[in-house]
Amino acid sequence: MKKKSVYINTIGCQMNVYDTEQIIRALFTIGYRPVALMDKADLIIVNTCAIREKAEQKAFSFLGRLAAMKRKNPGLIVGIGGCVAQQEGRKIFKRMPHVDLVFGTRAIGRLHHIIQQIESKKCRIVDVEIENDRCDFISLNDINGNADLENKSKFVTIMQGCDNFCTYCVVPYVRGREISRKPEDIINEIGKLVDSGVREITLLGQNVNSYGKKEGLCSFPELLSLVNDIEGLSRIRFTTSHPKDLSKELILAFNYLDKLCNHIHLPVQSGSNKILKKMNRKYTRELYIENIEKLRHNCVDIAVTSDIIVGFPGETESDFEDTISLVNHVKFDGLFAFIYSDRPNAPAAGFLNKVPEKEKKERLQRLLDLQKIHTDKNNRALTGSVEKVLVEGLSKMQCIGKSEKADGVQEWTGRTSTNRIVNFIDPAFCNSGKESMHIAAGKMVDVKIEKAMAHSVWGKAVKTEPELINSKGVKSYAA
Ligand code: SAH
Ligand code: SF4
Ligand code: F3S
Repeated sequence: MKKKSVYINTIGCQMNVYDTEQIIRALFTIGYRPVALMDKADLIIVNTCAIREKAEQKAFSFLGRLAAMKRKNPGLIVGIGGCVAQQEGRKIFKRMPHVDLVFGTRAIGRLHHIIQQIESKKCRIVDVEIENDRCDFISLNDINGNADLENKSKFVTIMQGCDNFCTYCVVPYVRGREISRKPEDIINEIGKLVDSGVREITLLGQNVNSYGKKEGLCSFPELLSLVNDIEGLSRIRFTTSHPKDLSKELILAFNYLDKLCNHIHLPVQSGSNKILKKMNRKYTRELYIENIEKLRHNCVDIAVTSDIIVGFPGETESDFEDTISLVNHVKFDGLFAFIYSDRPNAPAAGFLNKVPEKEKKERLQRLLDLQKIHTDKNNRALTGSVEKVLVEGLSKMQCIGKSEKADGVQEWTGRTSTNRIVNFIDPAFCNSGKESMHIAAGKMVDVKIEKAMAHSVWGKAVKTEPELINSKGVKSYAA
């Protein structure tokens, strides 16, 4: 088979990151290998996100830039996949004449056949069909098992689609109805990833709490328990959990599953009951706060992060004050705040009393300023403690300045169980000047935190337990 190369630009959430791996697996079977440079590629794909208008614009501006490349190299195949492709379908051909392929969120399982057709017939293809009662996943087998395994932390999608229809959200329209993947397929895939060196898995779904309910499979906490039993895996994370479905079993799972990280992402969206109702979120601020109290009561040091939308249609200053008071009450460990954006198909696009852009921006800034105070406080509270860090690799600031240590000191980066970013150095390396023998991506290291930064903390590796720095010892360590 002739070797060909594919360049993929991934925009959007973790689910798109996973889908890109699925795309690589599909294309692997027909001879494509991923390349890091676009001008070396025979096939260029942009995997898109439709959640806000800006994300959609990003996709089209990238595609637009490919027109000149296609003119120079008419053999180049240009494709658009993901949520914008699903949303816009055939219309994209009119807007972008140099595009050969539009494939939707549930077409990845057919992608290799589609590409083969384009190669042989030199035709343009649109495939945005969604069969709501089936989901296809391309399994990780030996031939495609060598696709990007550098990363020791991987996403695995456990369910597709969404049935919640929050009024601002495009996801139910671009990802179809909710459908769960069989537990044995999930376990099998994670097992293979772990065998090839992966240490941390994040289970993905739009609403993981309803995993398996429709199909009568096991519950989400039961699935977590099965994943927890996989030997060699160090950490489990999941996202996203909907506050309306947070079960007692899931709350308890944080206690008895040793590999489950002490972190939950529980998007609240607004602190105003009036707005929550208009968003169709099906919970109140009181229920949300009660859930957080239960989580913290059950697992004292659990980190809670959230998403908030500012400027939803009809959001008054007083509604926004409710959001501010909720944030002050809960004191999130991290917060993603977004300016409300009208989306095609989403009912809120037709709601009255839109908030002016200037006001939305001001509210966003006020929220971010408030969160900064909480994040700084949380980061400062970590100084002096020793944290277990799963190493991701060398940090972006590999060489720290002379004021800290000698030039050229290797700086590593990783995360705590609570998902805080920790940059650290290995003092043994600093003293000897030799290459660090012990620290590498995928290893668990104890780090003493010395400094709090804006978005991370900084510290030094402490070698309290020899097993921690022994490559064979890692497997037995839980986060
Ligand atoms: N399934 C997840 C959310 C996925 S979308 C959940 O229910 O929590 C990720 C985040 O994007 C949402 O939590 C929301 O805060 C934000 N978002 C979704 N639609 C949006 C819109 N139209 N405008 C602004 N932000 C939006
Ligand atoms: Fe969108 Fe709501 Fe579904 Fe999340 S739960 S994906 S916000 S519709
Ligand atoms: Fe975006 Fe689609 Fe994810 S709209 S947030 S890429 S599900």
